[in-house]
Amino acid sequence: MVEKVGVLVVSYGAREAAIVDVLKRSRKYDVKLYVVDKQRNPFNVEKAAEHVVIPDLDVEKICHFAEARKDKIDFGIVGPEKPIIEGVRDIVEKRTGIPMICPTKEYAIEASKVQQRLLFQETVPEVNPRFKIFSLKDLKTMDEAKKALYRWLDELEDKAVVKPDKPAAGKGVGVWGDHFTTREQLFEHFWENLQHGAVIVEEKIEGEESSFQAFCDGKHLVPLPETRDYKRAFDGDKGPNTGGMGSYKDAGEVLPFMTKADREKELEIVNRIFEEWHVADSQALRGIPFYLAFMHTGNEPKILENNSRPGDPEIINILPVLKDDFVDVCYKILDGNLTSVELEREATVLTYKVPPNYGGYAETFPDCVNRDEVGKPVDLTKAYALSKKYGDKIRVYPASMELRNGETYALKSRAVGVLGIAPDIETAREISLEGINAIKGGALWYRTDIASKEHISKSVRHMEALRKRM
Ligand code: GLY
Repeated sequence: MVEKVGVLVVSYGAREAAIVDVLKRSRKYDVKLYVVDKQRNPFNVEKAAEHVVIPDLDVEKICHFAEARKDKIDFGIVGPEKPIIEGVRDIVEKRTGIPMICPTKEYAIEASKVQQRLLFQETVPEVNPRFKIFSLKDLKTMDEAKKALYRWLDELEDKAVVKPDKPAAGKGVGVWGDHFTTREQLFEHFWENLQHGAVIVEEKIEGEESSFQAFCDGKHLVPLPETRDYKRAFDGDKGPNTGGMGSYKDAGEVLPFMTKADREKELEIVNRIFEEWHVADSQALRGIPFYLAFMHTGNEPKILENNSRPGDPEIINILPVLKDDFVDVCYKILDGNLTSVELEREATVLTYKVPPNYGGYAETFPDCVNRDEVGKPVDLTKAYALSKKYGDKIRVYPASMELRNGETYALKSRAVGVLGIAPDIETAREISLEGINAIKGGALWYRTDIASKEHISKSVRHMEALRKRM
């Protein structure tokens, strides 16, 4: 007999539509989903036994929803960082007894970028870029702050990244050459951030980026294959940083521009952090506590940031090619006995389609946008219909989209992701783009160079040049 299981999913966008998808595709379990969502995501609404919208993903409201259904829910899984940082696991577990897959509040490492840098300094100092922490406690006047900052900029030859301690505080992260090209502009960004708390100013690292993720049951780390995220809004890595316009993974565990030695060094680094940080017999680090952005420099990789949640879109490159039943993986995470997972030997490419003013556009839309379609419904049916041609090798995951009066509308953030799955990156990309082009309406647009041959070759050449320089 098929076993029944009830799962609470705390959802933000396409990343959680992918979680919903792999749970519902379980062959061993009859899965009933209780989804708390940021919006009326059409995919999740269709798949869920119960679906509720809590736009601010407030942990008290999430807990209230779970408490009223605690007899039907066996465990919960959380994608977005805000409820993790606010302690959703601690509150839900304490009040309802439902075990949650995400770290406890204490281990929500993205809550403080300063604590992150200090942890790495203690455990793996070689991976930290050179950094300094500034705070209004030590800098009494604007003049004093400017002098201290400029002394540090002299050492960094101006190539600096300015990061507020708290996520999304003040003006957020600013990068020399992207957000500012003069010291005055950098100071303005820094000073505004400083009014909201401590600020890190660290050296800007040149290289190629990869995302590392690992499942964790609190006791064992199970590393997942590397993925490459495309953070910039426009083709050729131009424009402002976004949540990620797309991502790819190769059929094996490394990316085309990485060596096995790069991967081994990453594993050594993450294991050292894990050994230092986790407490034996505690399952506090449950979920994906290590989603790390690494920058490969040709010498040792550096850590740009660490989050205690799965990457969006990066985890979408992984979940659909898991050979293990995802419900079993979840149970093993909860039982503390997840020691390995198996994956299909497939490459995956995810491309996001985004609304007209995403990525820094205000009133001026990119040329590719059809202005007549702005605010009109989006038709996903032709993209879904491609599963007749490709079977489960194509996945269409709505993100910031809302079901309203039977129509689907794009909201403000990334609207919909399409994943292609194939033995090689090129074919996976073709499938993803065919799906993207089948999505009509809503004036959506996308980056055309996600996982393109040209983009990947450029990364490979860049790494070759960096390795030669060492
Ligand atoms: N793709 C970037 C992130 O998940 O933070």
